[in-house]
Amino acid sequence: MNLKVTIQFTAAFLTLGVFAQQPNYEAKVDSLMKLMTLEEKIGQTVMYGGGWDKTGPTVSTDNVKFIKEGNMGAMLNVYTAKATRDLQKIAVEESRLGIPILFGYDVIHGHRTIFPINLGMAASWDMNMVENYSRIAAEEASAEGLHWTFSPMVDIARDPRWGRISEGAGEDVYLGSEIAKAYVKGYQGDDLSKNNTILACSKHYVAYGAAQAGRDYHTVNMSEDELRNVYLPPFKATVDVGVETFMSAFNELNGVPTSGNKFTLRDILHDEWKFDGFVVSDYTSVNEMIPHGFAKDSIDAARIGMNAGVDMDMMGHLYRKFLKDLVAEGKVDEATINDACRRILLTKFKLGLFDDPYHYSDEKRQQETIYKPEFLKAAREAAAASSVLLQNNNNALPLDKTKTIALIGPLAKDEYHINGNWGGAGDRKGKSVSVFEGLQEFLKDNQIIYAKGCDIVKDDEKGFQEAIDAAKKADVVLLVMGEDHGMSGEAASRTNLKIPGIQPKLIKKIREAVPNKKIVLVLMNGRPLNLSEEISQVDAILEAWFPGTMGGSGVCDVLFGTYNPSAKLTITFPRNVGQVPIYYSMKNTGRPIPDNNPTQDYKSNYIDVPNTPLFPFGFGLSYTTFQYSDLKLSSNEIGMNDKLTATATITNTGTVDGYEIVQLYVHDRFGSITRPVKELKGFQKIFLKKGESKTVSFTISVEDLKYYNNENIFGVESGEFEIAIAPSSDFKFKHTFTLK
Ligand code: GLC
Repeated sequence: MNLKVTIQFTAAFLTLGVFAQQPNYEAKVDSLMKLMTLEEKIGQTVMYGGGWDKTGPTVSTDNVKFIKEGNMGAMLNVYTAKATRDLQKIAVEESRLGIPILFGYDVIHGHRTIFPINLGMAASWDMNMVENYSRIAAEEASAEGLHWTFSPMVDIARDPRWGRISEGAGEDVYLGSEIAKAYVKGYQGDDLSKNNTILACSKHYVAYGAAQAGRDYHTVNMSEDELRNVYLPPFKATVDVGVETFMSAFNELNGVPTSGNKFTLRDILHDEWKFDGFVVSDYTSVNEMIPHGFAKDSIDAARIGMNAGVDMDMMGHLYRKFLKDLVAEGKVDEATINDACRRILLTKFKLGLFDDPYHYSDEKRQQETIYKPEFLKAAREAAAASSVLLQNNNNALPLDKTKTIALIGPLAKDEYHINGNWGGAGDRKGKSVSVFEGLQEFLKDNQIIYAKGCDIVKDDEKGFQEAIDAAKKADVVLLVMGEDHGMSGEAASRTNLKIPGIQPKLIKKIREAVPNKKIVLVLMNGRPLNLSEEISQVDAILEAWFPGTMGGSGVCDVLFGTYNPSAKLTITFPRNVGQVPIYYSMKNTGRPIPDNNPTQDYKSNYIDVPNTPLFPFGFGLSYTTFQYSDLKLSSNEIGMNDKLTATATITNTGTVDGYEIVQLYVHDRFGSITRPVKELKGFQKIFLKKGESKTVSFTISVEDLKYYNNENIFGVESGEFEIAIAPSSDFKFKHTFTLK
């Protein structure tokens, strides 16, 4: 019996599961690895791109040759049932051991059906919704042959200059951790061997969002307690719910690149958290340790990456080229490579790829799954539930269906930018619903007077007059403006947070032309913007982010009141870029501004703007109003083993039913290191009919109050705590309790 037949027999033997009834993957991996050469084990640590979707510097590869050699553990940027099946067939039938390939892709906020960008979906504060959308993304992605998404991005970010702030859940640790878990549950489901579940990937590990000056890929420096209290928790949360993969990051952390950082990758991720999945590098991030000034050359970078705990090299060519020599030279133990290979093979077994390498690549299922009506309906709900009503003066909203609308702005008829950055396989040529098309569901054509007015960034004012004329003719002005989708996301940092181009000038001109007419501004953008001028020029502002495939419909559901806006910001909107970084959970300093004397000298403040943001974390308006009353504590004093229950009554005091996101905050007044002035420790999204009241209850334990101090002790000291149940982070504490 020749080697190939033996191996195929063995591989078949493996897949028959004759070793055990329930999957004993470890044993199967062990048996398979006994057949593998060192080169083949190294081959599993190699990932190349299909070159379909440029998500980084394109590195040319001869994919088929590498697949046949067994030098392709995974591929990125290849999808559709046919393309993945064709490549998988080569791996299974033409490589020596027939080990299937993993296919990964950036399914960041939907695959074909695109949902609002992640910073928008976070604003729904709806974990079930986030999980459901990730489930839908997994259904579509897996139907197109994908096993793995490079999502969720769980980087805490507090600098709106950083373009990738659009991809995450915003500034808060607690909320970011809850949302991270929801994504992983949605993608991975309850059984990875099912062909509609995909591997999630916790990225970018770690602290990528703390890049200096908000400049992408820039240096990160912070204390270990800041790392452990702010940037690590969302990653740990994904491990707690069984995330299968991690992605190391581009940035250095305290002088050590995170794609070569043994402390974060082995000491914390493996030894402390017992993570049993595998780590993939970011796109050539192992190579980038050379320009970082941490690796002498390519072979050194390969050595550092593998030894530090990066199990797979994305697009870098280094592991394929150098690991065998590094083992021969004793610079990398074969055991280290065995561990990396084992982790990767284990994941492939869990996905059922050894039982059926093609069970994700089914063209019939693909046809039946993409853009299902229920998926599009969910995307429409997402767009509505993610849109934050920032201002609504003179009851400009909801719009009246009997009126004529001047629809103005470069994004009013847009179907291209509306999917935002990382729009994946979403269609940008007509599938998406623009605001204009959304309006047509509510108004007759003769009620809509459209004028583009200007471009997003070009400074040509020739469209101004047409826009002004439209504004004069109509009853109400609806502006749809904002950023180009490429102005946020990767490698898209901005030093200026204004609405780009001459859009602000057009807003001003229109207000001058129609001083008493209601003007509504709908924004599409991937970061907090400086709206300090616009708040006095328009009546209403709806932050729609990039709302995705059904964005126009969802936004119009809010504009006409079909959906009462309920979203709340998960990221602070500054008055201007000079305030950055600004976030709600900052420290008090030794010279805080006194409430009763905000202009007192020699306090920690600016001489030109207040310390407060334009719009705070947790803020969002509704078409109704809510009253918070009767905050009660189960006790004013608790011991280290006790729990505290806080309740409050929330009443819908307005005229329409609606959702309200109720938030619980605490403040540890003093500790072995200074503590934030307030921290979110719970939230509940409740529905109240007009006039209805509900009592909302939160229970916190000492565990919720613990933090890492500067001696790396995770604990909490006795002392006084302040507590509040509030509609946003903009409040003053009125209640305290003592921890004995
Ligand atoms: C990019 C991004 C990362 C993405 C990867 C693959 O450079 O940093 O988020 O998943 O490459 O496209």
